[in-house]
Amino acid sequence: MTFHIITIFPKLFDSYLADSIIQRAIASKKITVKFYNPRDFTKNKHKKVDDIPYGGGPGMIMTVQPVIDAWKKARGRSEKKKFKTIILSPGGTEFTTTYAKRSAKKYTDIIFICGRYEGIDARIKKILGKQAEEVSIGNYVVTGGELAAMVMIDSMSRQIQGVLGNALSLEEERISSREMYTRPPVVEFQGKHYRVPTVLQSGNHKLIDEWRENH
Ligand code: ADE
Repeated sequence: MTFHIITIFPKLFDSYLADSIIQRAIASKKITVKFYNPRDFTKNKHKKVDDIPYGGGPGMIMTVQPVIDAWKKARGRSEKKKFKTIILSPGGTEFTTTYAKRSAKKYTDIIFICGRYEGIDARIKKILGKQAEEVSIGNYVVTGGELAAMVMIDSMSRQIQGVLGNALSLEEERISSREMYTRPPVVEFQGKHYRVPTVLQSGNHKLIDEWRENH
């Protein structure tokens, strides 16, 4: 899977992509991450990527031309690849594990358009039409689409064969069993003892599975 990220703040991604599972997925070429900065596609002297909103109001809106030119560069010419464009927006379709699984199966390339400021010009979505979808990580507003794109990249990458290795089934299981324990078997805190449920130490996998279904 190749993730193409259109953002004016590519550095925001550095630390997250440089560690742990995502870093290993990149090193083993299970995923590739490419950046396209709309500033590099501007046609004005000051590399301005935003402007004031028509009709008034606070904040600035990202302009069409640099974003669409960045998108064209990301999209390239290949007919073989299966592209999807996601416009990060708090008002979009809600992102879920099911969405991540489907996307990981269906597409070879995902383009993220990260809006900043108050948003992006509505014509960007109109120009891209059916190829693009507005997607949200939840019913709250974060400062820009970058954080939301990182959440989606992480969640989709986990669904790609080989990224988690054998850990996949275990990781997925955690969704059904929220309570996990590790050593020591007893933790003392402010005079109270917190014990690992004995069934988990029993070695009886039938009983353990039953317990996990309910916790
Ligand atoms: N940009 C700002 N808030 C967002 C959200 N909740 N989901 C996706 N993109 C966003």
